[in-house]
Amino acid sequence: MSFTLPPLPYAYDALQPFMSKETLEFHHDKHHQAYVTNGNNLLKDSGLEGKSLEDIVKESYGKNPGLFNNAGQHYNHLHFWQWMKPNGGGAIPGRLEKAIIDSFGSIDKAKEEFIQAGVTQFGSGWSWLAVKDGKIIVAKTPNGENPLVHGATPILGCDVWEHSYYIDYRNRRPDYIKAFVDSLVNWEYVDELYSKAVG
Ligand SMILES: [Fe+2]
Repeated sequence: MSFTLPPLPYAYDALQPFMSKETLEFHHDKHHQAYVTNGNNLLKDSGLEGKSLEDIVKESYGKNPGLFNNAGQHYNHLHFWQWMKPNGGGAIPGRLEKAIIDSFGSIDKAKEEFIQAGVTQFGSGWSWLAVKDGKIIVAKTPNGENPLVHGATPILGCDVWEHSYYIDYRNRRPDYIKAFVDSLVNWEYVDELYSKAVG
């Protein structure tokens, strides 16, 4: 296989005012494209060429850092574009809502922990909702790492690299993550991944 960059699932200006056209042009066309290009170069002769993207991420972890960083970021960004939608952040589908309440006590508590994970991730990285042992957990990871390499299945991730928010929010990472949760999250896609994860 080789990595390819699909187009955004919405127009570049569709997430305004919460994420600008300029941010999406740089983030998708430059940053994600660079992960794809570098990942393809590093995949050659790695011994993992025939594997799925998820397997490349898991099997390169701790063994081939260059390939892992780029393949991990390719995986993370493929989902990140789908984790957002215009007019997002609304109602959570019932089964997923119940599962989040079972795991955290309330939706507000889950959102608060997710935001806090992103705020406290030192330097570049991601905050996550993931399914582990049938429960939904909050996690944070540095750089291109994700819950796949910790025995969990990611169902929602927020990119807290500065390239995701600096044009629109400058240093105000907490405001960016709050806007992501309140106004951008595509809960239907989160629900789809949750359903796949728990069967
Ligand atoms: Fe990013």
